[in-house]
Amino acid sequence: MKEIKTIAVLTSGGDAPGMNACIRAITRAAIFNNMKVIAVYRGYAGLINGEFEEFTSSSVSNTIQRGGTILKTSRSQEFLDPEGRKKAYDNMVANHIDALIVIGGNGSLTGAQLFAREYDIPVIGLPGTIDNDLYGTDHTIGYDTALNTIVECVDKIRDTANSHDRIFFIEVMGRDAGFLAQNSAIASGAEAAIIPEDKTDVDQLAEFIGRGMRKSKNSSIVIVSESQKDGSGGALYYADRVRKEFPQYKVQVTILGHLQRGGTPSAYDRILASRLGYASIEALIEGQRNIMVGISNDEIVYVPIQRAVKMDKPIKKELIDVLAVLSM
Ligand code: F6P
Repeated sequence: MKEIKTIAVLTSGGDAPGMNACIRAITRAAIFNNMKVIAVYRGYAGLINGEFEEFTSSSVSNTIQRGGTILKTSRSQEFLDPEGRKKAYDNMVANHIDALIVIGGNGSLTGAQLFAREYDIPVIGLPGTIDNDLYGTDHTIGYDTALNTIVECVDKIRDTANSHDRIFFIEVMGRDAGFLAQNSAIASGAEAAIIPEDKTDVDQLAEFIGRGMRKSKNSSIVIVSESQKDGSGGALYYADRVRKEFPQYKVQVTILGHLQRGGTPSAYDRILASRLGYASIEALIEGQRNIMVGISNDEIVYVPIQRAVKMDKPIKKELIDVLAVLSM
């Protein structure tokens, strides 16, 4: 096994709160173990273009509390081509980089997996995305913060919903996964969640809201996952359908958008990011390669990157039942 003297670290895909805490942990754990740290700017694009900087321990001072990513990020099209990956590899060789750590979501780790297959270089993936959609880890870095941000927003919107007797359809991020929608609905006491994992019949939803409104509730909150898997247009689509069936109700839509993704990371995300970053260096020292480091039942786990990106991470049926019963 070749000794790892120099590692490179990059963030890729959507920024997520806690990425900086993770970069900090990787940098300091690597330096503690006498490794040199090369920070790569703008994700894979920076690997291709050689946007490198050697990090010292103080490069990551005063960053643990900051949202976004100090390394900047991108979704590189060029890295999807073998030619782009070859350029990236050549840059790594030219800079004597022995291993690569990628912090990102599904698309970013898919890129990491391709790279690891083609070139004989250890690659470690770390789950960094607000979507929580990577298999093999209970949580991804950024998910907890985004969830709390959504709940805070919904609490505020509920004040207006209540005061004006309105039904609000609130659209949240999550790409093709409903974790943010389902759990924010439970945490905010919403009446329903529409998620890609559980097909919602629009008529059923209208029925449900109508029943609730007639019974006692004068206002309703429905959280809609942004996923377009079901061919619908998210919150706008469901709101329109309910408006048609219940013209007597005042229906409004709020799309939370990118305000869900930024902001100071929660304590949970900072700790998770620190643990995963630290563990990624331990994993490299142990000789691990082409794995994602995740967390399961509060223990660090290694998951082959291929499984992390390919396998479905289902939403527990229990969460669907909890919301259905508690929102009566
Ligand atoms: O993957 C994170 C995420 O925020 C998704 O929830 C969302 O669908 C997507 O990124 C938005 O990407 P962008 O910021 O590039 O529009």
